[in-house]
Amino acid sequence: MTATGPEIVAPPTLRRLNTAVLIATVAAAAITVAAVLPAEYGVDPTGIGRVLGLTPMGERRIAQANGGKAPAGPVAGDAITTTPDGGRRVRIVLGPYAGREVKAVMKAGAGMTYRWSTDGVAVEFEFHGEPDTPTTPGDYSSYEKGTKASAQGSFKAGFAGHHGWFWKNPTAKPVVVTATVKGGVESFAPIYAKGVAAAADAATPVAGAAASANAGRYNTDLPLKTVMSAVFGHAAQEIWKRQGYMSDATGLHSLFPKDAEEWKLAENDALSLAEMTNILLLPGRRVDEKAWIDSVAGVRRSALTLAALTRKQNKDAYLEAGLKLNDACNACHVQYAPGVE
Ligand code: HEC
Repeated sequence: MTATGPEIVAPPTLRRLNTAVLIATVAAAAITVAAVLPAEYGVDPTGIGRVLGLTPMGERRIAQANGGKAPAGPVAGDAITTTPDGGRRVRIVLGPYAGREVKAVMKAGAGMTYRWSTDGVAVEFEFHGEPDTPTTPGDYSSYEKGTKASAQGSFKAGFAGHHGWFWKNPTAKPVVVTATVKGGVESFAPIYAKGVAAAADAATPVAGAAASANAGRYNTDLPLKTVMSAVFGHAAQEIWKRQGYMSDATGLHSLFPKDAEEWKLAENDALSLAEMTNILLLPGRRVDEKAWIDSVAGVRRSALTLAALTRKQNKDAYLEAGLKLNDACNACHVQYAPGVE
């Protein structure tokens, strides 16, 4: 490609974005290896006696603790967030003497690392799993039981199903439990009374836990990585592809919108991106830190500026605002996704 003039500006962001995708691919390969490795060190679930023919552990224990029911929905103080390194974090509040469960949906052979802790008090717990296709009613496997204030380790699922923790608060004061998992986990969410029923009824167990926790509300099952490349990366490309100039054998070509109709499309793209920033603030996606919230607001501001400039049809300012949008995206990446530019 021969660039023939001082005015030539190819959309600079495309190349940077492709580099980002490449880096992300390498990172994904590393995660796959990491998910396989814990098998070497992890708990061998089949080696830890499988208890058959009992009432599911969750139901039984919750019956003791809560008069027969898991909470119908989120308890004040519950939160589901994503950690900067791609982990999933659930914080739940255990009422006085209450028992609750948080479960991960995993495929057979999938691995995860985990870490949980309370705000200080030792609680009764059982780390256990329930298969998607039980061989007997109430089929479950117990991996670890005891009384602790924290635990961490790695785990490999011996069967497809729900794997996670039951905790019981032995005190008269509320206890906060925070659990983080990372690796081959399809969802990680507290179990609510409706959720248990919905998960048991669901023909698609994979969607069970997350879909039931979000029933009738919103759904954050798509991983952030996918949302970034498929939704935000795509939306930004739609804007950037209408900016700058390209030079080829036949000369220099403007990429900017050519008529009112194309400017209108550009405006729609910018407004769509502005509106989509809300996705990053959903519980389950948001990181509760000022830097996250501020950079989401920065992207929204940039997108609204772009929309306003399409109405003025000012090419120079529109291109400049496109570069600022890239900066706004990166303001988050430098903090939460180092390596993505
Ligand atoms: C509030 C934070 C935040 C904002 C704002 C943000 N991103 Fe991201 N982005 C992330 C995080 C975190 C990742 C890493 C996700 C992962 O790999 O799990 C990421 C990753 C990416 C990736 C790599 C995806 C992949 O396949 O690995 C692309 C592309 C991307 N973002 C594009 C954008 C664009 C374009 C914008 C602006 C329009 C933007 N992002 C704004 C947080 C953000």
